[in-house]
Amino acid sequence: MSPLIRVLRDEAETVALGDALADTLLGMEDEITRSGVGIGLRGDLGAGKTTLVRALLRRVGVTGRVKSPTFSLLELYDVSRLHFHHFDFYRLKSPQEFVDGGFAEWFGPRSVCLVEWPERAGVFLPRLDCEIGLELLDSGRRAVVRADTLMGERCQHRLTEILTRQA
Ligand SMILES: Nc1ncnc2c1ncn2[C@@H]1O[C@H](COP(=O)(O)OP(=O)(O)O)[C@@H](O)[C@H]1O
Ligand SMILES: [Mg+2]
Repeated sequence: MSPLIRVLRDEAETVALGDALADTLLGMEDEITRSGVGIGLRGDLGAGKTTLVRALLRRVGVTGRVKSPTFSLLELYDVSRLHFHHFDFYRLKSPQEFVDGGFAEWFGPRSVCLVEWPERAGVFLPRLDCEIGLELLDSGRRAVVRADTLMGERCQHRLTEILTRQA
């Protein structure tokens, strides 16, 4: 499956992608309740990873403050039947710290794991279903969504449908 590529001209378009991803996941609630889903977010500091996750969490019903997990490494949100986990591993000193912190336990049935800086957890990170890369353009961002599992392919397929319907 070839990646889905979108240019996000401004912050509002990043938020719109977060909204569309939220709708994608809510539409797959049964499947995620059974097996969980992991989504990685790659890109430099300031690329828009947290902006996208924050939009997603608001859309699924999180009403309080959505803090960046820059220092805590993990923020948890229970909404609907799903448990959302927002990780930011930028400050992970080594992949071993992922193991010592017991972070793998959060992956599994009912769980939506949204992982900023997945590369910092190295080989210990459970397999992600898809990854969203955000690249800085002269103005705006380019988003590239890549599926790595069958579950990821279903996510990407649904997301594409939702975005096409909006266009
Ligand atoms: N598509 C976009 N075009 C221009 N600026 C954007 C876009 N999306 C987000 N931004 C801005 O870029 C910054 C991204 O910050 P943040 O989401 O914290 O990045 P990260 O989590 O990747 O470090 C914010 O200031 C946000 O307003
Ligand atoms: Mg961030």
